[in-house]
Amino acid sequence: MAEKYRILTLNNISPAGLARLPSERYIIGSDVAEPDAILVRSAKMHEMVIPASVKAIGRAGAGTNNIPVAKMSERGVPVFNAPGANANAVKELVIAGMLIAARNLMPAWQFAESLLGEDAEIAKAVEAGKKNYTGIELPGRTLGVIGLGAIGSLVADAGIRLGMNVIGFDPEITVDAAWRLPATVKKATSVEEVVKNSDFISLHVPLLDKTRNMIDAARIALMKPGAVLLNFAREGIVDDKAVVEGIAAGRLRGYVCDFPSNALKGNPRIVAFPHLGASTQEAEENCAVMVAEQVRDYLENGNILNA
Ligand code: MLT
Repeated sequence: MAEKYRILTLNNISPAGLARLPSERYIIGSDVAEPDAILVRSAKMHEMVIPASVKAIGRAGAGTNNIPVAKMSERGVPVFNAPGANANAVKELVIAGMLIAARNLMPAWQFAESLLGEDAEIAKAVEAGKKNYTGIELPGRTLGVIGLGAIGSLVADAGIRLGMNVIGFDPEITVDAAWRLPATVKKATSVEEVVKNSDFISLHVPLLDKTRNMIDAARIALMKPGAVLLNFAREGIVDDKAVVEGIAAGRLRGYVCDFPSNALKGNPRIVAFPHLGASTQEAEENCAVMVAEQVRDYLENGNILNA
């Protein structure tokens, strides 16, 4: 019998994906030596620790910035990813983020918790909470989406369905025909146009040299007073210090993101999740299945899709 393919798994890769690599042909584990392929989620990989035996890498997610893709390409090792497989999960968290900021949910909840005690205290807390945490509604507000790939397009579509005006811009897509968006999304021609005109701004670009600190003090200064910034894309696209200053200056109503950092800590107008955007059962399964199938197809047939 031919030798089995050896797959090293870093991070927990959903069993639904691993099931696409049958045990008759694959040995899979977190301690497999001399692997033919690696399946990884968020672990940061350095080229020096990627064994010479590796012929393919599967990243169970959309972004590949934890993998030295260019170096792997020099070695002739394709890096497969799962574009779109977790887009719905991220979109849902963006909507939650908009509502968290619009309705002051985190400070209101913390306030209510802090006052709990006797029944009389609870009644007082409810009264004070109603007075102090009045929010805003989404219909009629403008949602700006920067980055219109699989996730950004879904977020734009959700904004339209929620009754919002949506304005979108993608630094990479300039041709009208390339837009996979509802016709009612207004097409902006610059980041500035989006930030100036939006009540909520949601970022969906990868972290590249040209997108690092894309949202800086200068762009925050252009935002409408009371704007909400949402970053479920990548840490580093937003200058955290500028955000904190923008909130202190009353420019930003809030910042909801998926990247906790010391610079953001302890601010009631900032909510930072531990990179939960893609953390649903469905998204984890979809991503793992998509990359496992691509890696299998490459090892067994030499086919390359999404690399
Ligand atoms: C992605 O790039 O799709 C996410 O980082 C996925 C993840 O959370 O693992």
